[in-house]
Amino acid sequence: MAPDNRIAICPGTFDPVTNGHLDVISRASAMYDEVVVAVVNLPWRKGKTVFTTDERLAFLRKATSHMANIEVAPFSTLLVDFARERQAMAIVKGLRAISDFEYELEMNQLNHTQAPEIESVYLMASGKYSFLSSSGVKELATFGGDIEDLVPAEVAKALKERLGR
Ligand code: PNS
Repeated sequence: MAPDNRIAICPGTFDPVTNGHLDVISRASAMYDEVVVAVVNLPWRKGKTVFTTDERLAFLRKATSHMANIEVAPFSTLLVDFARERQAMAIVKGLRAISDFEYELEMNQLNHTQAPEIESVYLMASGKYSFLSSSGVKELATFGGDIEDLVPAEVAKALKERLGR
């Protein structure tokens, strides 16, 4: 039976969280009673991450601590299994440029075959974040670019320490 609370999952690798992610998370927080930010916890998936799962969780917890209906949790199962476990009604993701569309269409259809009762909801990225990605920020940090306006201050500091040349 559906829970009284309307619960959504905002999933991702978040290596690291960017202000674009936070924009989507805060908009989801206004749309649902509870939002679980689900952090992929599989070290071997898509290559090694710059930050450990614990670090990625900590960045997200700090950056969302002002939003009362947000929980940040790791997951290492199929996303839809995690969503079912949390009795979520929706998976909420951001959609940036057209380049995101093909991947997200595939994910949406894969997830839908596994759990047709869970809707995927896409929020269009705000204009100022439409070209912001974790990998772009890592590239900038590696070569000494200015990332202060793109990620939380703590993340910017950690990125410079870990990747800066
Ligand atoms: O682009 P990201 O941040 O790496 O996205 C991660 C995720 C889990 C949201 C995306 O890959 C997805 O929707 N996957 C669905 C398939 C699945 O459940 N994979 C297991 C991941 S632990």
